[in-house]
Amino acid sequence: MSTEKTPLRIAIAGLGTVGTGVIRLIDSNSDLLAERAGRAIEIVAVSARERHRERGVAIDRFAWEDDMTAMARRDDVDVVVELVGGSDGPALTLARDTLSAGKGLVTANKAMIAHHGLELSRLAESKGAPLAFEAAVAGGIPILKGLREGAVANRLTRLYGVLNGTANFILSSMEEKGADFAVALEEAQRLGYAEADPGFDIDGTDAAHKLSILAALAFGSELDYASVATHGIDRVRAADIVQADALGYVIRLVAMADMDGSRGDGASLMQEVRPCLVPRGHPLSHVTGATNAVVAEGNFVGRLLFQGAGAGDGPTASAVVADLVDIARGTAGHAFSITADALSPSPAADRGARTGRNYIRFAVKDRTGVLAEITAAMRDSGVSIESLIQKGRSDNGGEVLVAMVTHDGEWRCVEQAVEILNRSEDHTAEPLVMPILGA
Ligand code: HSE
Repeated sequence: MSTEKTPLRIAIAGLGTVGTGVIRLIDSNSDLLAERAGRAIEIVAVSARERHRERGVAIDRFAWEDDMTAMARRDDVDVVVELVGGSDGPALTLARDTLSAGKGLVTANKAMIAHHGLELSRLAESKGAPLAFEAAVAGGIPILKGLREGAVANRLTRLYGVLNGTANFILSSMEEKGADFAVALEEAQRLGYAEADPGFDIDGTDAAHKLSILAALAFGSELDYASVATHGIDRVRAADIVQADALGYVIRLVAMADMDGSRGDGASLMQEVRPCLVPRGHPLSHVTGATNAVVAEGNFVGRLLFQGAGAGDGPTASAVVADLVDIARGTAGHAFSITADALSPSPAADRGARTGRNYIRFAVKDRTGVLAEITAAMRDSGVSIESLIQKGRSDNGGEVLVAMVTHDGEWRCVEQAVEILNRSEDHTAEPLVMPILGA
């Protein structure tokens, strides 16, 4: 172990699951970290909402700050680790103050990076301060490092994956137990997977934050969270899971981005989060429970699959401390792989031009003529039907579900058909469209 260099002195803001995980990891692997980093990593100060709370780790050996932004001003701190969360507010103030003071910033805050990553990386570069956020995307999976370093020689054109463990846990539990969405969500909350307010997990926002960060780093495009088309899993019913299974698919909340120009609109950026049908046997079909996975396609390496725990104290702490080791070694590099100014603004893709097969589920009143109305809307919109399935019937004219699989076709045609059918009084809910992922 080298003892020649001065330790890297860190301060931790936020002592929840991840913050205490970071302390535990540094305590338990300190010799190994010093050896690999070439210098010790030493916690100097901590800050959290509550000082006196049982956390399972002793914190009285560190300096305490009631006001976490004070950590940015401490002369004895080289790097601040921000684990508070929230896109704005105190986390953003701390991040700006830390980088402005020329100190390093390590954060797990995907919302803040998705909204302000460009500004923060410009600030970091202007101050010569390292900025790193491996833990912000897919928890313990070293995906940013994997793309920035391991796959650096490739032109990456497409990436997609399961980026939210809570949503995946809910879909897996609906799959295993035949439970409806609300029941599976309640179970996820009871087991501690979902937050008390799981809004961002369910409605796709959390996955969209992570996707926009990945896309910027992978494609060298300017971070563009606002252009991610985001859909959640709350409209997926147990019946969809059963129907998908009968057709040979599972349902996953897939975050996907590409910049391959294959839509014929040049180098435009497509970013989308949406429940999709994934063929059984596809790598993403095996991603169950709270696991995350990312598939990245490079022009020389081919298809890469990264898989692992997307949340939790140990995995997230592992990613945070990996960033600290990079900073201790002086090898952190640019946050988005290239300088913030070199990231190119990319126009958002014309989503309507995207082609593929789709699953569409209709919830309709069991009346004569309803199927004819659906097929007429498809005909008038140019959607070619591969199969149409209606099972069971409702005696009193109540709701029945109709599932359709389309042939390959343009997304805009499906959108037009759905718009027509949304005006029909025979539909008891908006049709749910889920793209079918290719093999
Ligand atoms: N809430 C996230 C998820 C974990 O469920 O995947 C942290 O990013």
